[in-house]
Amino acid sequence: MSSYHLWSIGCQMNAADARQAAEMLEGLGFAPVSTPEAADLIVLITCVVRQSAEDRVIGRLSSLKSLKRRRHPPAIVVMGCFVPADHELLAAQFPYVDRFLLPSDLCGLRAFATMLAPQPATRVAASVAPVSALVPIMHGCDHHCTYCIVRLRRGPGRSIPVAEIVAEVQRVVAGGAREVTLLGQNVDAYGADLPGAPDLADLLRAIHDTPGLARIRFLTSHPAEMTDKLIATVAELPKVCPHFELPVQAGDDEVLKRMGRHYTVAHYRTLVERIRAQIPAASIATDVIVGFPGESEAQFAGTVQLLRELRLDAVHVAAYSPRPGTPAARLPDDVPAEEKARRRQVIETLQEEISGELSAALLGQTVEVLVEERRRGRWGGRTRTNKLVFFAAEGDWRGRLVPVRITWAGPWSLIGELDTTSA
Ligand code: SAM
Ligand code: F3S
Repeated sequence: MSSYHLWSIGCQMNAADARQAAEMLEGLGFAPVSTPEAADLIVLITCVVRQSAEDRVIGRLSSLKSLKRRRHPPAIVVMGCFVPADHELLAAQFPYVDRFLLPSDLCGLRAFATMLAPQPATRVAASVAPVSALVPIMHGCDHHCTYCIVRLRRGPGRSIPVAEIVAEVQRVVAGGAREVTLLGQNVDAYGADLPGAPDLADLLRAIHDTPGLARIRFLTSHPAEMTDKLIATVAELPKVCPHFELPVQAGDDEVLKRMGRHYTVAHYRTLVERIRAQIPAASIATDVIVGFPGESEAQFAGTVQLLRELRLDAVHVAAYSPRPGTPAARLPDDVPAEEKARRRQVIETLQEEISGELSAALLGQTVEVLVEERRRGRWGGRTRTNKLVFFAAEGDWRGRLVPVRITWAGPWSLIGELDTTSA
């Protein structure tokens, strides 16, 4: 039997590609193996959003070179954002790679793997299907954020038709998923390129009544494009979780302008107010880049002030990393690495405090948890507001919605016990 090894880093779109690739390869008769040494086919799903991610990809790829000297060398496929549309240079740099495939090119992977597939295809026991499944709804992005290489690698926005997404949601739910997360670089742009221009709110409605589906999430939103219709739809539909991934990136108008974000700090602030006015229990997470070219101490202080004031539920903070081919890479990268690290630390410390206080407010409360997996002797899952909760209990709780009374609260996770009084 042929075997495959899959290595994936980066965003949830890559995680979704990895799930679909695994399903497809297993359908073709490949069995998963945990080390590249044991594999006939190695697939790397790559990320280059920052230099550190690119360095990991190059390290991983370089470590595979020696396997090609074997008598029966494995086939190596590299896909994801490491691969530009024109990858001749890359092919010259890594001649031992058998196929370079563009991000999310699962058709290309299928075509290549079919040539290697065991004949006749042997059925492999399918890997355990996830309780929470990632479902891409669009590829690419039409924004021009000046620091971003992802849009260069993934191309313009292309939405997947509603009917195809409905069918995919039904398929993953039939396979055991109870929650779906609809994915796109900017889900607020969903549908504009489709006949009849359905939007994300219409899509949420179209999948909402799927039997067996308990929860729906979506990410990532763009502050310049989020509509009141979407917020009202999230407020109205019970299966849609009141959680927003709403990257602000910076708390200073000048920096936002140079980032090409097309909104102001005041707009972002008002948007958060609009969400909270309609959905008081909503949780909001954001992304921040520190040390963007020319970011002064005062401009950074604006970001800190905004986060202090808004008290968001989570902040993913990254030090600016110049990416080749992006407009920002032509600007001087003038915030020293140590200063970027310091600014990142300032935000992480502030957010730890805020997240800790928000979590502490849940002590003694009973929250609904969708149980995803068992880890280190405890069951783990998330609340509707995306908080990670662990609890100890006998039996199999995977895939169930359970009431958990919170007994311990930390900034990044909560611990509780099954609340038998409200079960
Ligand atoms: N579409 C989303 C948005 O509207 O921002 C996010 C897409 S981006 C691929 C994911 C995150 O990576 C961004 O929110 C940003 O914070 C971070 N990121 C992107 N490019 C970066 C860079 N050059 N340096 C540091 N962080 C970066
Ligand atoms: Fe990149 Fe901005 Fe799109 S961060 S993926 S160009 S919304």
